[in-house]
Amino acid sequence: MLFSYVKTAVFSHTYPFSTMTSFFQSLVENTPSYIFYTASVILSLALISISHCFYFRLITKLYNLPPGTMGYFPLIGETLTFLKLKEKFTFQRHSKYGRVYKTHIFGSPTVRVCGSDNIRTLMMGDTKILQVFWPPSTQSLVGSHSLAVSSGECHRQHKSLILKTMTPSKLKSHLDHFQTTASEKIESWINSGIIDPVQQCRDMTVRSVIKYFIRNDLSESVIEKLINEITTFEKNLMSIPLNIPGTGFYKSMKARAEICSIIQSVLCQNNKDTKCQAQSKDFLNSLHSMLQENRDGNVEKKIEDSILEIIFAGNLTTTVASFSTLYLLANHPKVLQKLREELNEFGLMSPDGIHYPIVTQDHIPKLNYLQCVFKEILRRLPPVGGVYRKVLKPFQLEGYTIPANWRVVCSIRDQHIGDCTFDNPMTFNPDRWLETADDHSAFDFIPFGAASRRCVGKDFARLSILYTILELARRAQWKMQPSTVKIDFIPAPKPMEEMTATFERYKHE
Ligand code: HEM
Repeated sequence: MLFSYVKTAVFSHTYPFSTMTSFFQSLVENTPSYIFYTASVILSLALISISHCFYFRLITKLYNLPPGTMGYFPLIGETLTFLKLKEKFTFQRHSKYGRVYKTHIFGSPTVRVCGSDNIRTLMMGDTKILQVFWPPSTQSLVGSHSLAVSSGECHRQHKSLILKTMTPSKLKSHLDHFQTTASEKIESWINSGIIDPVQQCRDMTVRSVIKYFIRNDLSESVIEKLINEITTFEKNLMSIPLNIPGTGFYKSMKARAEICSIIQSVLCQNNKDTKCQAQSKDFLNSLHSMLQENRDGNVEKKIEDSILEIIFAGNLTTTVASFSTLYLLANHPKVLQKLREELNEFGLMSPDGIHYPIVTQDHIPKLNYLQCVFKEILRRLPPVGGVYRKVLKPFQLEGYTIPANWRVVCSIRDQHIGDCTFDNPMTFNPDRWLETADDHSAFDFIPFGAASRRCVGKDFARLSILYTILELARRAQWKMQPSTVKIDFIPAPKPMEEMTATFERYKHE
Protein backbone atom coordinates (compact mmCIF):
# COMPACT_ATOMS: atom_id res chain seq x y z
CA MET A 1 0.00 0.00 0.00
CA LEU A 2 2.84 2.33 0.90
CA PHE A 3 4.42 1.48 -2.44
CA SER A 4 1.20 2.33 -4.35
CA TYR A 5 0.95 5.65 -2.44
CA VAL A 6 4.55 6.62 -3.42
CA LYS A 7 3.91 5.51 -7.00
CA THR A 8 0.74 7.64 -7.24
CA ALA A 9 2.48 10.66 -5.68
CA VAL A 10 5.44 10.45 -8.06
CA PHE A 11 3.67 9.65 -11.31
CA SER A 12 0.40 11.55 -11.00
CA HIS A 13 2.10 14.87 -9.98
CA THR A 14 -0.98 15.65 -7.92
CA TYR A 15 -0.78 17.98 -4.97
CA PRO A 16 0.70 15.80 -2.20
CA PHE A 17 -2.10 16.69 0.25
CA SER A 18 -4.87 15.17 -1.90
CA THR A 19 -2.68 12.12 -2.49
CA MET A 20 -2.13 11.86 1.25
CA THR A 21 -5.87 12.13 1.86
CA SER A 22 -6.57 9.30 -0.57
CA PHE A 23 -3.73 7.34 1.01
CA PHE A 24 -5.31 7.71 4.44
CA GLN A 25 -8.75 6.90 3.02
CA SER A 26 -7.48 3.68 1.51
CA LEU A 27 -5.52 3.00 4.70
CA VAL A 28 -8.68 3.32 6.79
CA GLU A 29 -10.72 1.20 4.36
CA ASN A 30 -8.18 -1.58 3.88
CA THR A 31 -6.71 -1.93 7.34
CA PRO A 32 -8.45 -4.14 9.91
CA SER A 33 -9.87 -1.82 12.59
CA TYR A 34 -7.81 -3.25 15.48
CA ILE A 35 -4.56 -2.53 13.61
CA PHE A 36 -5.82 0.95 12.82
CA TYR A 37 -6.70 1.71 16.46
CA THR A 38 -3.44 0.22 17.78
CA ALA A 39 -1.49 2.31 15.28
CA SER A 40 -3.41 5.45 16.33
CA VAL A 41 -2.67 4.79 20.00
CA ILE A 42 1.02 4.18 19.27
CA LEU A 43 1.19 7.32 17.14
CA SER A 44 -0.52 9.42 19.84
CA LEU A 45 1.81 8.04 22.52
CA ALA A 46 4.81 8.76 20.33
CA LEU A 47 3.61 12.35 19.78
CA ILE A 48 2.98 12.84 23.51
CA SER A 49 6.44 11.40 24.33
CA ILE A 50 8.16 13.70 21.83
CA SER A 51 6.32 16.80 23.07
CA HIS A 52 6.97 15.71 26.69
CA CYS A 53 10.73 15.41 26.04
CA PHE A 54 10.76 18.68 24.12
CA TYR A 55 8.85 20.51 26.89
CA PHE A 56 11.15 19.26 29.67
CA ARG A 57 14.32 20.03 27.70
CA LEU A 58 13.08 23.55 27.04
CA ILE A 59 11.86 24.22 30.56
CA THR A 60 15.10 22.87 32.09
CA LYS A 61 17.08 25.29 29.90
CA LEU A 62 14.78 28.22 30.69
CA TYR A 63 14.42 27.78 34.44
CA ASN A 64 16.43 26.70 37.44
CA LEU A 65 14.06 23.88 38.42
CA PRO A 66 14.11 22.17 41.84
CA PRO A 67 16.11 18.89 42.09
CA GLY A 68 14.30 15.57 41.56
CA THR A 69 13.33 13.18 38.78
CA MET A 70 10.31 13.14 36.48
CA GLY A 71 10.22 9.44 35.50
CA TYR A 72 10.75 8.05 32.03
CA PHE A 73 7.21 7.90 30.71
CA PRO A 74 5.06 10.86 29.65
CA LEU A 75 1.87 11.41 31.69
CA ILE A 76 2.70 8.48 33.99
CA GLY A 77 6.01 9.96 35.19
CA GLU A 78 6.77 8.51 38.62
CA THR A 79 3.15 7.62 39.47
CA LEU A 80 3.70 3.85 39.49
CA THR A 81 6.79 4.16 41.73
CA PHE A 82 4.79 6.49 44.00
CA LEU A 83 1.89 4.02 44.27
CA LYS A 84 4.31 1.14 44.91
CA LEU A 85 6.54 2.83 47.49
CA LYS A 86 3.81 5.09 48.99
CA GLU A 87 5.20 7.15 51.91
CA LYS A 88 8.70 5.69 51.32
CA PHE A 89 8.65 7.53 47.99
CA THR A 90 8.27 10.91 49.69
CA PHE A 91 10.60 10.11 52.62
CA GLN A 92 13.40 8.92 50.27
CA ARG A 93 13.12 11.95 48.04
CA HIS A 94 12.79 14.34 50.95
CA SER A 95 16.03 13.04 52.50
CA LYS A 96 17.82 12.98 49.11
CA TYR A 97 16.74 16.34 47.66
CA GLY A 98 15.73 18.40 50.70
CA ARG A 99 12.74 20.63 51.39
CA VAL A 100 11.79 21.40 47.77
CA TYR A 101 11.91 18.75 45.05
CA LYS A 102 10.19 17.95 41.78
CA THR A 103 8.50 14.77 40.59
CA HIS A 104 5.79 13.82 38.08
CA ILE A 105 2.72 12.13 39.57
CA PHE A 106 -0.93 11.70 38.59
CA GLY A 107 -0.39 13.27 35.19
CA SER A 108 1.29 16.49 36.34
CA PRO A 109 4.73 17.81 37.07
CA THR A 110 4.60 18.37 40.83
CA VAL A 111 6.80 20.12 43.37
CA ARG A 112 6.63 18.84 46.96
CA VAL A 113 7.50 21.38 49.61
CA CYS A 114 8.08 21.43 53.36
CA GLY A 115 9.81 23.77 55.85
CA SER A 116 7.86 26.35 57.87
CA ASP A 117 9.16 29.36 55.90
CA ASN A 118 8.30 27.74 52.55
CA ILE A 119 4.89 26.65 53.75
CA ARG A 120 4.26 30.17 55.03
CA THR A 121 5.18 31.60 51.59
CA LEU A 122 2.81 29.22 49.82
CA MET A 123 -0.13 29.41 52.23
CA MET A 124 -0.02 33.20 52.53
CA GLY A 125 0.73 33.50 48.81
CA ASP A 126 -1.12 35.48 46.21
CA THR A 127 -4.23 33.72 44.93
CA LYS A 128 -3.34 35.03 41.48
CA ILE A 129 -0.26 32.80 41.56
CA LEU A 130 -1.56 29.70 43.31
CA GLN A 131 -5.04 28.22 43.09
CA VAL A 132 -6.59 25.50 45.21
CA PHE A 133 -6.72 22.26 43.25
CA TRP A 134 -9.12 19.29 43.42
CA PRO A 135 -9.63 16.53 40.84
CA PRO A 136 -12.64 17.18 38.51
CA SER A 137 -14.63 14.28 40.05
CA THR A 138 -14.34 15.82 43.56
CA GLN A 139 -15.37 19.22 42.18
CA SER A 140 -18.52 17.78 40.58
CA LEU A 141 -19.44 15.68 43.60
CA VAL A 142 -19.02 18.36 46.28
CA GLY A 143 -20.72 20.94 44.07
CA SER A 144 -19.97 24.38 42.68
CA HIS A 145 -21.05 26.23 45.86
CA SER A 146 -18.61 24.42 48.12
CA LEU A 147 -15.61 26.17 49.69
CA ALA A 148 -13.12 23.75 48.18
CA VAL A 149 -14.23 24.69 44.67
CA SER A 150 -14.81 28.43 45.12
CA SER A 151 -12.18 31.16 45.29
CA GLY A 152 -11.78 34.92 45.77
CA GLU A 153 -14.58 37.01 47.25
CA CYS A 154 -17.13 34.22 46.80
CA HIS A 155 -14.96 31.88 48.91
CA ARG A 156 -14.32 34.54 51.57
CA GLN A 157 -18.02 35.38 52.01
CA HIS A 158 -19.24 31.81 52.12
CA LYS A 159 -16.45 30.77 54.49
CA SER A 160 -17.28 33.54 56.96
CA LEU A 161 -20.92 32.39 56.89
CA ILE A 162 -20.00 28.75 57.58
CA LEU A 163 -17.59 29.84 60.34
CA LYS A 164 -20.43 31.80 62.01
CA THR A 165 -22.36 28.56 62.38
CA MET A 166 -19.40 26.91 64.13
CA THR A 167 -18.04 29.65 66.42
CA PRO A 168 -16.30 28.39 69.59
CA SER A 169 -19.26 29.62 71.67
CA LYS A 170 -21.80 27.76 69.48
CA LEU A 171 -19.69 24.62 69.72
CA LYS A 172 -19.40 25.03 73.49
CA SER A 173 -23.17 25.04 73.78
CA HIS A 174 -23.09 21.59 72.11
CA LEU A 175 -20.44 20.00 74.35
CA ASP A 176 -22.98 17.38 75.43
CA HIS A 177 -23.11 16.28 71.75
CA PHE A 178 -19.38 15.48 71.71
CA GLN A 179 -19.38 13.87 75.15
CA THR A 180 -22.46 11.71 74.49
CA THR A 181 -21.25 10.62 71.04
CA ALA A 182 -17.88 9.47 72.42
CA SER A 183 -19.10 7.92 75.67
CA GLU A 184 -22.03 6.01 74.10
CA LYS A 185 -19.80 4.56 71.39
CA ILE A 186 -17.03 3.57 73.81
CA GLU A 187 -19.61 1.96 76.14
CA SER A 188 -20.85 -0.10 73.17
CA TRP A 189 -17.25 -1.20 72.46
CA ILE A 190 -16.79 -2.28 76.09
CA ASN A 191 -20.07 -4.22 75.91
CA SER A 192 -19.10 -5.91 72.62
CA GLY A 193 -15.63 -6.84 73.91
CA ILE A 194 -14.14 -6.99 70.40
CA ILE A 195 -14.48 -4.52 67.52
CA ASP A 196 -13.18 -3.62 64.08
CA PRO A 197 -11.49 -0.32 65.04
CA VAL A 198 -11.45 1.32 61.58
CA GLN A 199 -15.09 0.56 60.86
CA GLN A 200 -16.23 1.58 64.36
CA CYS A 201 -14.30 4.88 64.32
CA ARG A 202 -15.95 5.62 60.98
CA ASP A 203 -19.40 4.82 62.36
CA MET A 204 -18.78 7.09 65.37
CA THR A 205 -17.68 10.00 63.17
CA VAL A 206 -20.35 9.71 60.51
CA ARG A 207 -23.13 9.58 63.15
CA SER A 208 -21.66 12.59 64.91
CA VAL A 209 -21.47 14.55 61.63
CA ILE A 210 -25.05 13.60 60.65
CA LYS A 211 -26.45 14.50 64.08
CA TYR A 212 -24.56 17.79 64.35
CA PHE A 213 -24.83 19.07 60.79
CA ILE A 214 -28.15 17.63 59.61
CA ARG A 215 -30.42 16.94 62.58
CA ASN A 216 -29.99 15.50 66.03
CA ASP A 217 -33.21 13.49 66.27
CA LEU A 218 -33.31 11.57 62.97
CA SER A 219 -34.72 8.05 63.18
CA GLU A 220 -32.28 5.12 63.13
CA SER A 221 -33.60 4.03 59.70
CA VAL A 222 -32.86 7.46 58.16
CA ILE A 223 -29.41 7.49 59.79
CA GLU A 224 -28.69 4.00 58.37
CA LYS A 225 -29.84 5.11 54.90
CA LEU A 226 -27.65 8.23 55.11
CA ILE A 227 -24.62 6.18 56.22
CA ASN A 228 -25.06 3.84 53.22
CA GLU A 229 -25.41 6.74 50.77
CA ILE A 230 -22.43 8.58 52.31
CA THR A 231 -20.30 5.42 51.97
CA THR A 232 -21.11 5.22 48.24
CA PHE A 233 -20.67 8.99 47.83
CA GLU A 234 -17.17 8.92 49.39
CA LYS A 235 -15.95 5.87 47.44
CA ASN A 236 -15.60 7.69 44.12
CA LEU A 237 -14.68 11.21 45.12
CA MET A 238 -11.43 10.74 43.24
CA SER A 239 -12.45 8.80 40.15
CA ILE A 240 -12.80 9.35 36.42
CA PRO A 241 -15.76 11.77 36.12
CA LEU A 242 -17.84 9.69 33.66
CA ASN A 243 -21.52 10.04 34.55
CA ILE A 244 -22.56 6.83 32.75
CA PRO A 245 -24.58 4.02 34.42
CA GLY A 246 -22.25 1.40 35.88
CA THR A 247 -19.33 3.75 36.62
CA GLY A 248 -18.29 4.54 40.19
CA PHE A 249 -18.78 8.25 39.52
CA TYR A 250 -22.40 7.64 38.42
CA LYS A 251 -23.08 5.71 41.65
CA SER A 252 -21.62 8.57 43.71
CA MET A 253 -23.71 11.14 41.83
CA LYS A 254 -26.81 9.02 42.57
CA ALA A 255 -25.84 8.81 46.24
CA ARG A 256 -25.36 12.60 46.21
CA ALA A 257 -28.92 13.06 44.92
CA GLU A 258 -30.29 10.75 47.67
CA ILE A 259 -28.39 12.67 50.40
CA CYS A 260 -29.71 15.96 48.97
CA SER A 261 -33.29 14.71 48.99
CA ILE A 262 -32.94 13.73 52.70
CA ILE A 263 -31.50 17.21 53.44
CA GLN A 264 -34.46 18.80 51.64
CA SER A 265 -36.98 16.75 53.61
CA VAL A 266 -35.23 17.72 56.88
CA LEU A 267 -35.37 21.40 55.84
CA CYS A 268 -39.10 20.99 55.12
CA GLN A 269 -39.62 19.33 58.49
CA ASN A 270 -37.65 22.14 60.21
CA ASN A 271 -39.89 24.74 58.57
CA LYS A 272 -42.98 23.05 59.96
CA ASP A 273 -41.43 22.46 63.35
CA THR A 274 -41.86 25.86 65.02
CA LYS A 275 -40.01 24.80 68.16
CA CYS A 276 -37.01 23.87 66.11
CA GLN A 277 -37.15 27.17 64.21
CA ALA A 278 -37.37 29.16 67.42
CA GLN A 279 -34.27 27.49 68.83
CA SER A 280 -32.47 28.00 65.51
CA LYS A 281 -29.42 26.50 67.15
CA ASP A 282 -28.78 23.67 64.68
CA PHE A 283 -26.21 24.06 61.94
CA LEU A 284 -28.77 23.55 59.18
CA ASN A 285 -31.21 26.08 60.62
CA SER A 286 -28.52 28.69 61.29
CA LEU A 287 -27.10 28.37 57.79
CA HIS A 288 -30.57 28.48 56.24
CA SER A 289 -31.59 31.65 58.08
CA MET A 290 -28.24 33.37 57.44
CA LEU A 291 -28.41 32.66 53.70
CA GLN A 292 -31.98 33.96 53.62
CA GLU A 293 -31.02 37.10 55.57
CA ASN A 294 -28.17 37.74 53.11
CA ARG A 295 -30.75 37.43 50.30
CA ASP A 296 -28.40 34.95 48.63
CA GLY A 297 -29.78 33.24 45.58
CA ASN A 298 -29.76 29.45 45.35
CA VAL A 299 -30.21 28.97 49.11
CA GLU A 300 -31.19 25.30 48.79
CA LYS A 301 -28.30 24.43 46.47
CA LYS A 302 -25.80 26.24 48.72
CA ILE A 303 -27.04 24.30 51.74
CA GLU A 304 -26.77 20.97 49.88
CA ASP A 305 -23.22 21.73 48.70
CA SER A 306 -22.16 22.88 52.19
CA ILE A 307 -23.41 19.70 53.85
CA LEU A 308 -21.86 17.48 51.18
CA GLU A 309 -18.56 19.30 51.56
CA ILE A 310 -18.64 18.87 55.32
CA ILE A 311 -19.30 15.15 54.86
CA PHE A 312 -16.42 14.97 52.36
CA ALA A 313 -13.95 17.04 54.39
CA GLY A 314 -14.94 15.99 57.89
CA ASN A 315 -15.64 12.27 57.81
CA LEU A 316 -12.47 10.63 56.62
CA THR A 317 -10.16 13.06 58.46
CA THR A 318 -11.89 12.73 61.85
CA THR A 319 -12.25 8.94 61.43
CA VAL A 320 -8.50 8.69 60.82
CA ALA A 321 -7.75 10.83 63.89
CA SER A 322 -10.00 8.62 66.08
CA PHE A 323 -8.36 5.44 64.77
CA SER A 324 -4.90 6.98 65.39
CA THR A 325 -5.99 7.77 68.97
CA LEU A 326 -6.87 4.10 69.60
CA TYR A 327 -3.71 2.86 67.90
CA LEU A 328 -1.16 5.24 69.44
CA LEU A 329 -2.54 5.16 73.01
CA ALA A 330 -2.74 1.33 72.98
CA ASN A 331 0.95 1.25 72.07
CA HIS A 332 2.03 3.92 74.57
CA PRO A 333 0.73 2.80 77.99
CA LYS A 334 2.88 5.38 79.84
CA VAL A 335 1.17 8.20 77.94
CA LEU A 336 -2.24 6.70 78.80
CA GLN A 337 -1.20 6.44 82.45
CA LYS A 338 -0.07 10.08 82.55
CA LEU A 339 -3.34 11.14 80.93
CA ARG A 340 -5.34 9.25 83.57
CA GLU A 341 -3.32 10.88 86.34
CA GLU A 342 -4.19 14.30 84.96
CA LEU A 343 -7.91 13.39 84.71
CA ASN A 344 -7.76 12.08 88.28
CA GLU A 345 -6.26 15.38 89.52
CA PHE A 346 -9.35 17.12 88.16
CA GLY A 347 -11.67 14.53 89.74
CA LEU A 348 -12.80 13.13 86.37
CA MET A 349 -11.98 9.43 86.87
CA SER A 350 -14.47 6.82 88.08
CA PRO A 351 -13.41 4.34 90.80
CA ASP A 352 -16.47 2.11 90.32
CA GLY A 353 -16.75 2.22 86.50
CA ILE A 354 -20.44 3.16 86.89
CA HIS A 355 -20.53 6.85 87.79
CA TYR A 356 -18.52 9.18 85.57
CA PRO A 357 -18.19 12.83 86.69
CA ILE A 358 -19.47 15.38 84.13
CA VAL A 359 -16.76 17.15 82.13
CA THR A 360 -17.70 20.85 81.97
CA GLN A 361 -16.52 23.43 79.44
CA ASP A 362 -14.14 24.82 82.10
CA HIS A 363 -12.27 21.53 82.34
CA ILE A 364 -11.16 21.26 78.70
CA PRO A 365 -8.72 24.22 78.51
CA LYS A 366 -7.22 23.28 81.90
CA LEU A 367 -6.43 19.70 80.87
CA ASN A 368 -2.97 20.51 79.61
CA TYR A 369 -1.66 17.02 78.97
CA LEU A 370 -4.88 16.07 77.14
CA GLN A 371 -4.22 18.96 74.72
CA CYS A 372 -0.63 17.74 74.25
CA VAL A 373 -1.81 14.20 73.44
CA PHE A 374 -4.30 15.60 70.91
CA LYS A 375 -1.58 17.63 69.16
CA GLU A 376 0.90 14.77 69.16
CA ILE A 377 -1.64 12.40 67.55
CA LEU A 378 -2.20 14.88 64.70
CA ARG A 379 1.54 15.51 64.38
CA ARG A 380 2.60 11.85 64.31
CA LEU A 381 -0.20 10.61 62.02
CA PRO A 382 -1.57 13.68 60.19
CA PRO A 383 -4.95 12.75 58.63
CA VAL A 384 -4.25 15.02 55.64
CA GLY A 385 -0.82 14.33 54.14
CA GLY A 386 -0.59 17.51 52.10
CA VAL A 387 -2.54 20.27 50.40
CA TYR A 388 -2.53 20.73 46.62
CA ARG A 389 -2.29 23.93 44.62
CA LYS A 390 -2.16 24.65 40.89
CA VAL A 391 0.49 27.18 39.77
CA LEU A 392 -1.07 29.97 37.69
CA LYS A 393 2.13 32.03 37.18
CA PRO A 394 5.79 30.97 37.58
CA PHE A 395 7.27 31.90 40.98
CA GLN A 396 10.47 31.47 42.98
CA LEU A 397 11.02 29.27 46.04
CA GLU A 398 14.43 28.68 47.67
CA GLY A 399 16.02 30.08 44.50
CA TYR A 400 14.21 27.60 42.22
CA THR A 401 11.53 28.48 39.69
CA ILE A 402 8.21 26.67 39.83
CA PRO A 403 6.67 26.88 36.32
CA ALA A 404 3.04 27.71 35.50
CA ASN A 405 0.55 24.81 35.26
CA TRP A 406 2.60 22.64 37.62
CA ARG A 407 1.16 21.43 40.93
CA VAL A 408 2.61 22.32 44.31
CA VAL A 409 2.02 20.12 47.34
CA CYS A 410 2.62 21.61 50.81
CA SER A 411 3.58 18.35 52.46
CA ILE A 412 2.09 18.26 55.96
CA ARG A 413 3.52 14.77 56.46
CA ASP A 414 7.13 15.77 55.62
CA GLN A 415 6.69 18.88 57.74
CA HIS A 416 5.50 16.87 60.78
CA ILE A 417 7.58 13.70 60.57
CA GLY A 418 10.42 14.63 58.22
CA ASP A 419 13.62 15.96 59.75
CA CYS A 420 13.04 19.66 59.10
CA THR A 421 11.03 20.74 62.15
CA PHE A 422 10.70 18.40 65.13
CA ASP A 423 13.38 16.54 67.15
CA ASN A 424 13.03 12.74 66.98
CA PRO A 425 10.04 13.22 64.68
CA MET A 426 9.07 9.52 64.50
CA THR A 427 8.72 9.23 68.30
CA PHE A 428 5.22 9.64 69.72
CA ASN A 429 5.97 11.97 72.60
CA PRO A 430 3.17 14.30 73.80
CA ASP A 431 5.61 15.80 76.34
CA ARG A 432 7.34 17.66 73.51
CA TRP A 433 4.39 20.06 73.54
CA LEU A 434 4.79 20.71 77.30
CA GLU A 435 8.45 21.55 76.85
CA THR A 436 8.37 23.56 73.64
CA ALA A 437 4.84 24.89 73.40
CA ASP A 438 5.92 28.48 72.64
CA ASP A 439 8.95 27.71 70.48
CA HIS A 440 6.98 26.67 67.43
CA SER A 441 5.98 28.96 64.60
CA ALA A 442 2.39 28.91 63.33
CA PHE A 443 3.58 27.03 60.23
CA ASP A 444 5.50 24.22 62.00
CA PHE A 445 2.42 22.28 62.99
CA ILE A 446 -0.28 22.46 60.32
CA PRO A 447 -2.68 19.49 60.54
CA PHE A 448 -5.58 21.82 59.63
CA GLY A 449 -3.76 23.78 56.91
CA ALA A 450 -3.32 27.53 57.28
CA ALA A 451 -4.30 31.04 56.20
CA SER A 452 -7.36 31.60 54.00
CA ARG A 453 -7.88 27.87 53.33
CA ARG A 454 -7.57 26.81 56.96
CA CYS A 455 -10.00 24.04 57.91
CA VAL A 456 -13.44 25.36 58.93
CA GLY A 457 -14.14 22.19 60.91
CA LYS A 458 -11.01 22.40 63.06
CA ASP A 459 -12.83 23.27 66.31
CA PHE A 460 -15.50 20.64 65.65
CA ALA A 461 -12.77 18.04 64.98
CA ARG A 462 -10.76 19.21 68.00
CA LEU A 463 -13.68 18.78 70.43
CA SER A 464 -14.68 15.51 68.85
CA ILE A 465 -11.15 14.06 69.20
CA LEU A 466 -10.51 15.54 72.68
CA TYR A 467 -13.67 13.87 74.00
CA THR A 468 -12.76 10.59 72.30
CA ILE A 469 -9.31 10.61 74.00
CA LEU A 470 -10.81 11.61 77.34
CA GLU A 471 -13.65 9.07 77.40
CA LEU A 472 -11.35 6.29 76.18
CA ALA A 473 -8.81 7.03 78.92
CA ARG A 474 -11.31 7.03 81.76
CA ARG A 475 -13.67 4.24 80.63
CA ALA A 476 -11.69 1.64 78.72
CA GLN A 477 -8.66 -0.62 78.71
CA TRP A 478 -8.00 -1.94 75.21
CA LYS A 479 -5.52 -3.87 73.08
CA MET A 480 -5.02 -3.84 69.31
CA GLN A 481 -4.45 -7.10 67.42
CA PRO A 482 -1.86 -7.23 65.89
CA SER A 483 -0.41 -4.66 68.31
CA THR A 484 1.72 -2.97 65.67
CA VAL A 485 1.03 -2.85 61.96
CA LYS A 486 2.49 -0.92 59.09
CA ILE A 487 0.51 2.23 58.49
CA ASP A 488 -0.33 3.08 54.90
CA PHE A 489 -0.26 6.88 54.64
CA ILE A 490 -1.79 7.26 51.20
CA PRO A 491 -4.33 8.76 50.75
CA ALA A 492 -4.78 8.90 54.57
CA PRO A 493 -3.29 6.85 57.44
CA LYS A 494 -4.85 3.40 57.78
CA PRO A 495 -3.54 -0.03 58.87
CA MET A 496 -2.13 -2.18 56.06
CA GLU A 497 -3.57 -5.34 57.68
CA GLU A 498 -6.98 -6.05 59.17
CA MET A 499 -7.02 -5.20 62.87
CA THR A 500 -9.27 -5.92 65.82
CA ALA A 501 -9.42 -4.20 69.20
CA THR A 502 -10.43 -5.96 72.42
CA PHE A 503 -12.09 -3.80 75.04
CA GLU A 504 -12.79 -4.06 78.77
CA ARG A 505 -13.84 -1.57 81.41
CA TYR A 506 -11.16 0.41 83.22
CA LYS A 507 -11.64 1.21 86.91
CA HIS A 508 -9.35 3.77 88.50
CA GLU A 509 -8.35 2.44 91.91
C1 HEM B 1 -8.87 15.88 62.23
C2 HEM B 1 -9.75 16.32 61.37
C3 HEM B 1 -9.47 17.25 60.24
C4 HEM B 1 -8.29 17.55 59.61
C5 HEM B 1 -6.91 17.00 59.92
C6 HEM B 1 -8.59 18.52 58.55
C7 HEM B 1 -7.63 19.08 57.71
C8 HEM B 1 -7.90 20.05 56.76
C9 HEM B 1 -6.92 20.71 55.94
C10 HEM B 1 -5.42 20.40 55.97
C11 HEM B 1 -7.55 21.61 55.16
C12 HEM B 1 -6.90 22.60 54.18
C13 HEM B 1 -7.06 22.17 52.74
C14 HEM B 1 -6.35 23.13 51.79
O1 HEM B 1 -5.60 24.01 52.21
O2 HEM B 1 -6.53 22.93 50.59
C15 HEM B 1 -8.96 21.53 55.45
C16 HEM B 1 -9.95 22.26 54.83
C17 HEM B 1 -11.30 22.10 55.07
N1 HEM B 1 -11.86 21.34 56.07
FE1 HEM B 1 -10.90 20.13 57.38
N2 HEM B 1 -9.93 18.76 58.54
C18 HEM B 1 -10.50 18.03 59.56
C19 HEM B 1 -11.84 18.00 59.92
C20 HEM B 1 -12.82 18.73 59.29
C21 HEM B 1 -14.22 18.71 59.68
C22 HEM B 1 -14.80 17.93 60.86
C23 HEM B 1 -14.88 19.51 58.78
C24 HEM B 1 -16.33 19.88 58.74
C25 HEM B 1 -17.04 20.12 59.76
C26 HEM B 1 -13.89 20.04 57.85
C27 HEM B 1 -14.18 20.89 56.82
C28 HEM B 1 -13.23 21.48 56.00
C29 HEM B 1 -13.56 22.37 54.89
C30 HEM B 1 -14.97 22.77 54.45
C31 HEM B 1 -12.35 22.77 54.32
C32 HEM B 1 -12.15 23.70 53.11
C33 HEM B 1 -11.79 25.08 53.63
C34 HEM B 1 -11.50 26.07 52.52
O3 HEM B 1 -11.28 25.68 51.38
O4 HEM B 1 -11.51 27.26 52.83
N3 HEM B 1 -12.66 19.53 58.19
N4 HEM B 1 -9.15 20.57 56.45
